[in-house]
Amino acid sequence: MKLEDYGRFEDGGRIFRITRPDTPAPWINYIGNGRLMGLVSNAGGGYTYWVCPRDSRLTRHRYNSLPWDRPGRYLYIRNESGVVWSPTWQPVPVELDAYSCRHAPGWTEISSAFDGIEVSIRYFVPQDHDTEVWRVRVRNTGASSRKLEFYPYVELVLGHALVDLINQPNDQHFNITDWDPESEILYATKNYWVQYKSATVAQPNQAWDKEVFFATSLPVRSYDTHKETFIGRWRSESNPIGLERGDLANTLITAGDACAALCSAAEVQPGETLEFSVLLGVVEKGRREDAREMAARYRDAAAVQKALDEVEEWWDWYLSAVEVETPDEPTDIMLNTWSKKQTWTTYTAARSAGYYHGGLLFGSGVRDSAQDLLGPLVADAKMAEVKILNVLRHQFSNGSTLHNWFPLTDEGENTGHSDTALWIPLAITSFIRETGDLGYLEKRVKWQDGGEDTVLEHLIRSIDYTLREKMSPRNLPLFGPGDWNDTLDYVGRQGRGESVWVAQFLCWGLRETAELLRLVGQSGKAAEYDGWYATVAAAINDLAWDGGWYVRGFRDDGGVIGSVTNEEGRIFLNTQSWAVMSGIADEARARQAMQSAWELLETERGPKILAPAYRKVDQGVGLATRCVPGKKENGAIFNHPVSWAIIAEAMLGNGDRALEYHSRTNPINQAHDPDIYLMEPYVYSEYVTSDEHPTFGQASHSWLTGSGVWMYRGMLDWVLGVRPEYEGLVVDPAFPSAWERARVRRRFRGCLYDIEILNPDRVAGGACELRVNGQPVSGPLQPGEPGETVRVQARIVGK
Ligand code: GLC
Repeated sequence: MKLEDYGRFEDGGRIFRITRPDTPAPWINYIGNGRLMGLVSNAGGGYTYWVCPRDSRLTRHRYNSLPWDRPGRYLYIRNESGVVWSPTWQPVPVELDAYSCRHAPGWTEISSAFDGIEVSIRYFVPQDHDTEVWRVRVRNTGASSRKLEFYPYVELVLGHALVDLINQPNDQHFNITDWDPESEILYATKNYWVQYKSATVAQPNQAWDKEVFFATSLPVRSYDTHKETFIGRWRSESNPIGLERGDLANTLITAGDACAALCSAAEVQPGETLEFSVLLGVVEKGRREDAREMAARYRDAAAVQKALDEVEEWWDWYLSAVEVETPDEPTDIMLNTWSKKQTWTTYTAARSAGYYHGGLLFGSGVRDSAQDLLGPLVADAKMAEVKILNVLRHQFSNGSTLHNWFPLTDEGENTGHSDTALWIPLAITSFIRETGDLGYLEKRVKWQDGGEDTVLEHLIRSIDYTLREKMSPRNLPLFGPGDWNDTLDYVGRQGRGESVWVAQFLCWGLRETAELLRLVGQSGKAAEYDGWYATVAAAINDLAWDGGWYVRGFRDDGGVIGSVTNEEGRIFLNTQSWAVMSGIADEARARQAMQSAWELLETERGPKILAPAYRKVDQGVGLATRCVPGKKENGAIFNHPVSWAIIAEAMLGNGDRALEYHSRTNPINQAHDPDIYLMEPYVYSEYVTSDEHPTFGQASHSWLTGSGVWMYRGMLDWVLGVRPEYEGLVVDPAFPSAWERARVRRRFRGCLYDIEILNPDRVAGGACELRVNGQPVSGPLQPGEPGETVRVQARIVGK
């Protein structure tokens, strides 16, 4: 089937409407306020957590279940004759008369019709309250009055989701539920809370510090919290026995598997719409008054509407930081809505809370976080600042950093990856470029091992640590247990292997930081970094140029990877793109490297991370070679490196190729055959299987990928060429020749820049003449008065 058979964009791309429920995979959305977060599928599936999906989980996600996408946030409806259906299609296998699901940045709404009843459920989380609100509207389209019963239902975890998975029979002994008849609120909590990283025989001596509450604005007739009583023996969510009894059993548990189910009844007249809300929220233990306050507030339809309006307003504001009009609609849809939604999602859910990252293992990575903040940074410097602070707090005073951390317990691992500390320069220099706030560098931040220092000192130490402790005698960084590519994990375990990509990334960081140091008068340190840049760049060019491209690295045993001398893994995309991005390659090598990448890595669905894929397990390379050819880091079209290739091509003025890469990998274009592509058409997936595997074109691991942010910034900063420099906003497009005109509206340092880019001669790349309010200007655009709209015309005048 085609994409149109499953759904379409609406409202200028702001909404994706799914038109049949049996999508090739759950097509999900994220709702949340950054604390209370929910993953919502088009079939009502998904889970809810508070801040940390491992340590403070509210509802369950059943891993490896069939059918998948179970359980979820369900509403069962029972009619007068006992027929039961789910307006979200799952979990009751009843065919609906109509169905659609709309995913929007701040909410998801599933609407359907069955038995003369139209139901729509809109799921969202208010900005200031840690509760999901399910706004339910039920319309009687028939001619007679209807007596209906409503049963909202969730399955509970109550605390540590990993322990729930591996030790559930023991863990559930500590579940406690409670019903408050006065306020008609169900509560559930756990008198035990594990916060250990791994399985251990040690037992904690503490209770979960939260209480889940579940409530509806309809009068409650009965409830259940004992899952087995509600579902029944040898049954599933598809046919709970609780619905056959016609009333719930009012079970409360002091041990056992917990759920929350409510039963309400209402009569709906012909043509009438009944509206009610269901709340699934969390409060601090001992703060039930907060639950009562929320339940009372959201009984009122006007309060629900107000909270929804506030969510919409926030998203309007967040999304309006950048608005583009290009001749390419799929580009506009991604840049205007979905890439920005995706960057918010990676910012909040990291590589942790996903359908494919199960929320149990990763916490927040320093590497990923430093990149994820580049999206929200454009809209809201404060959001970026919070993340930078978190990254810096996990840095040690010797300059190294934890590799990842868990938000509630703050524990993490110091894995020794060769790139981790070097993401700090990216985060800080990007922040200063955006805000121009050099004073930020003086802000003091704690070290992980005690004491504190300025932001600038954190930045300097991240680089100095690498220069002091991580360089080989040949002036290339050691590979260690991996670099950006986690699966090149045995190239340098013995402490001799060298990473050419990290060398380029280090050069990039040295150059960025030296420029910043000069601005704050530290020219001595800047000169030291210039010297290092020259040394490392020379080492790369002497040792890593392979005739047609840059090799990927050198192994502990002295061998090379990513070289023409290799049979497998002969060329890697990253060392070509970063040779350009870091500026270490001269013009000829830069062009040659990117041309080789195009010739040797390109497929009709975008360029591969490496080629040819490894077919033999190589102990001296690691996990990449254990993966089947064409998938994951073993030769898939890995979107994150693709986004860097787009930037590199744009930096070379090659707008046509940059657009080609972008268009081929854009999920909207990729998903033209959803039954092959499988994942959501509105966000990037981590990778798409390449032509070296029989499932060529199949996407995997949607949502939580760094490509979301880099595709957005690559197109905005480098192809459209509107990017922040320390001195102001630069307009320097690398336009595709097919584009005659584009418009970019971008907030920057308190002003709105309304930029029209004209390409009358249809050149690719090319120099640009700028006019501000009709007057010719050169150099970065200076900020005007706060709130001012600065009108800019950029005319591409040819090569
Ligand atoms: C995953 C990781 C990311 C890593 C990439 C390549 O996306 O989250 O940190 O850089 O894989 O291995």
